[in-house]
Amino acid sequence: MDSIPANRRLWNRISSAYQREHDPQIGATPRLWGMYSIPDAHLHALGDVTGKRVLELGCGAGQWSRALAAEGATVVGLDLSEAQLAAAARAMGAARYPLVQGAAEQLPFAADSFDLVFCDFGGLSWAPPHLAVPQAARVLRRGGRLVFNVASPWFEACYDEAVSRVTTTLQQDYFGLNTIAEDGGATSYQLTYGDWVKVLRGADLIIDDLIEPRPEPGTPNGYNKTDPPDWAHRWPAELLWVTHKP
Ligand SMILES: C[S@@+](CC[C@H](N)C(=O)[O-])C[C@H]1O[C@@H](n2cnc3c(N)ncnc32)[C@H](O)[C@@H]1O
Repeated sequence: MDSIPANRRLWNRISSAYQREHDPQIGATPRLWGMYSIPDAHLHALGDVTGKRVLELGCGAGQWSRALAAEGATVVGLDLSEAQLAAAARAMGAARYPLVQGAAEQLPFAADSFDLVFCDFGGLSWAPPHLAVPQAARVLRRGGRLVFNVASPWFEACYDEAVSRVTTTLQQDYFGLNTIAEDGGATSYQLTYGDWVKVLRGADLIIDDLIEPRPEPGTPNGYNKTDPPDWAHRWPAELLWVTHKP
């Protein structure tokens, strides 16, 4: 299934409204992970990027990329949507970095081009992981790392479409989450824990850590309502995978 055209149309259409709503949160300070903006300083997922060649898969308006460029990384921001890339270009700081239009499932880079490939609800949430993970592995050098944050299967399985919120009741089958229909025919992707392990191992990546970001009670979710409000303090809302290419 080719979700590239519909996903590109969706993100082009919603880019301005999305940035108006979310940039104040996700761009507030450097290195904030996920729906709860948990600092990387608490999660220790990325480490020092000084002098490293870094690719952000699905960089959006570049809140992460511009922070890592300012830290001295050689960053490339890749995104499918020209509207999102235009937002990234407008928001670029003094540390300039290249922006590339492309899809995570068809990366336009040579093998061994990067020391770190990463994303936060980016290309590994919006491209089929069985295509995007091998692409990320291909462009990494040996010893390079793939680090990415996605929604957890718990979060997706407990999401009640009828009331637009995450609940304490299982609403959807865990097996067969796979594709999630988004607005306008777009698609996002969600694997089971077992399928993530299969896809990562299938791309010859070593899993170093699976961080489950846990917000403190009272931390707002910038994207979704949950019932109870401290849902993500009690159950894992996100999976932050840390892997490397041996
Ligand atoms: C939720 S944003 C992630 C960016 C940023 N971390 C954020 O939270 O805003 C998702 C991004 O993925 C991009 N995207 C969607 N499908 C993609 C694909 N197949 N390959 C690369 N990027 C894609 C979208 O254009 C969008 O900018």
